[in-house]
Amino acid sequence: MSARQHQRKDTDRRSAYLDKLLLTGGAQLRGTVEISGSKNGCLAIMAGALLGKGETVLRGVPSIGDVHTMIDVLRALGVKSAMERPGILRIDATEIDGTEAPYELVRRMRASFSVLGPVLARKGYAKVAMPGGCDIGARPIDFHVKGIQALGAMINMDHGFVEAEASSLMGTQVYLNFPSAGATQHIMTTACLAEGVTTIHNAAAEPEVVALARFLKQMGARIEGAGTTTVRVEGVDELHGTDFDMLPDRMEAGTYAVAAVMTRGDVRIENIVPEDVEPFVLKLREIGAVVDIHEHAMRVRAKERPLATDIMTMPHPGFPTDLQQPFAALLSIAEGTSVVTENVYERRFKYVNELVRMGADIKQEGRTAIINGVPKLTGAQTSASDLRAGAALVCAGLAAEGRSEISGIEHIERGYENMIDKLKGLGADVALAPDEQEREAVCV
Ligand code: EPU
Repeated sequence: MSARQHQRKDTDRRSAYLDKLLLTGGAQLRGTVEISGSKNGCLAIMAGALLGKGETVLRGVPSIGDVHTMIDVLRALGVKSAMERPGILRIDATEIDGTEAPYELVRRMRASFSVLGPVLARKGYAKVAMPGGCDIGARPIDFHVKGIQALGAMINMDHGFVEAEASSLMGTQVYLNFPSAGATQHIMTTACLAEGVTTIHNAAAEPEVVALARFLKQMGARIEGAGTTTVRVEGVDELHGTDFDMLPDRMEAGTYAVAAVMTRGDVRIENIVPEDVEPFVLKLREIGAVVDIHEHAMRVRAKERPLATDIMTMPHPGFPTDLQQPFAALLSIAEGTSVVTENVYERRFKYVNELVRMGADIKQEGRTAIINGVPKLTGAQTSASDLRAGAALVCAGLAAEGRSEISGIEHIERGYENMIDKLKGLGADVALAPDEQEREAVCV
């Protein structure tokens, strides 16, 4: 999507949601693509910026749907927040006037729940709508709530909201049943203004957790162990604003790497952190791609059909769940049978039927997909059910024979900056077009 589209007002955004992506497969991707700042890193850091008195300047911020939603959440809290030039976001949380994050924003994006702890730590009270939807339910915020409760907050969950109240927060010990990235980030952030030491056991070690810790330390926080399974936070009285460069989006890098291999192309992917991309780079090499790693870039190329392999998603440094879908698209044209096991999100296979419509041979049962590689996919009309499903369909469409139309691209727009322009820059035949059927359906 272009930067111009992201600057549209909400009413315009609604019509952008009715666009579809037209792709004609077959072009081998070639050239250089620049990776944007990390979506997931950025969202957590924007919530963390609520702790600072003074202005925070974030650089390398992607202009994507989720970042714009988070800007709206910060504004709903009365915090000054604006993207002033492409990539530069200013947040001034010296004053936080509001204490409530409303449902219409939180339901759009689960990550907005992470403002609960920082607002509580600053104001003594916060009220945030529960991330809704039957796909999520109450379970996925239980670690967050448990951690904030352990820090001494009174929690009330009623009428679809979580209210947290505490005149002061106290350091504590928290054990996470699963190394949740979001809960680790949320508890670590909140604990920065608690009295005494907080230790998070079985913490997530994702690069986005490490980046958040680096950001909070720049603001004056005392944090040790981010990137390991035990994170220790020593509370301080106050944090200040800072100037921070966003880490690159490793999932975006992985998506372009998959697209390069699927089209038997040769792509230089710039703005990466080599150790952060290692889990999927090793898999790319396993399936026969040639990957050269440089200091801040990687070159990915493939001449032959990929080989089958097995994938099991795991918390970092395991294979990332966010690349499970694009890699499944890749394995759908591999030579041989691959088994993909999803260990993080049990329902992350909604793209399977769409790939089958493009000629893939995939059988899914529970958390496993068995993929019998076919020599080629054929273009078809498909629909993206979520962000990474959308990425998988784009990769599939680029490699498929003939024309594909992907609807539901609002999901892609949430997390991939300028995807159309970037793909065009690599030689792909891709365009945005109005989805007339969708328009009619909405107008009826
Ligand atoms: N979980 C719970 N209870 C909780 C929190 C998590 O049971 O309170 C479970 C989840 O249901 C899931 C597992 O723990 O089964 C891991 O979830 P995690 O909390 O790590 O995920 P998250 O923090 O909500 C972030 C990313 C996701 C990414 C995961 C895993 C953001 C905004 N989102 O989500 O990104 O898949 O970590 O790495 O940071 C994406 O970008 O497409 C995306 C979904």
